[in-house]
Amino acid sequence: MLITADKIATRVTELAGEITKKLPPDIMIVSLLRGSFVFTSDLVRALHLANPSATTGPQVDFMTMASYGSNTVSSGRVEITRDLTEKVEGRDVLIVDDILESGRTLAFARKLVLSRGAKSVHIVVLLEKPGKRKAEIDADFVGFTIPDKFVVGYGLDYANYYRELPYIGVISA
Ligand code: IMP
Ligand code: MG
Repeated sequence: MLITADKIATRVTELAGEITKKLPPDIMIVSLLRGSFVFTSDLVRALHLANPSATTGPQVDFMTMASYGSNTVSSGRVEITRDLTEKVEGRDVLIVDDILESGRTLAFARKLVLSRGAKSVHIVVLLEKPGKRKAEIDADFVGFTIPDKFVVGYGLDYANYYRELPYIGVISA
């Protein structure tokens, strides 16, 4: 166990407060599947609780991207395998992802959303591993900075397992 469910819940509430201070309530949330589905579902409810009287809340959409060879220095190609349904043109977009590692996925997503005419793009990640960045990208909101270990749970997987864990854990041999 690296981060307990309680600690995650506290931090998600704090993040929602930070986001509410900085961004308008009618943002377009672009959640990157599959890893961010748990984080996104907690975050949207926390956003409501942070600003319950907002007349227009966020809208939510999903996008799936696959990255290939992201552990090698030379490769790291990113592809869309499931695109957004909604238009992002003219919108204040908040991209939600589970973890920022090389940054290739988020750099790609950010560029894509901007190329489609988004008014602004901000990024929130639950986790960040420092010192692993291959693309020039930073998140505007970060839940936790973690050591360089492979983590699972709260949406994050190993071979598509462990996503259901309510906490963030490290697999030990
Ligand atoms: P990157 O920032 O483009 O390298 O990609 C980050 C993506 O790799 C995340 O969205 C996760 O899907 C995956 N990933 C990176 N580190 C981990 C980890 O420790 N556990 C599970 N998935 C991870
Ligand atoms: Mg992912």
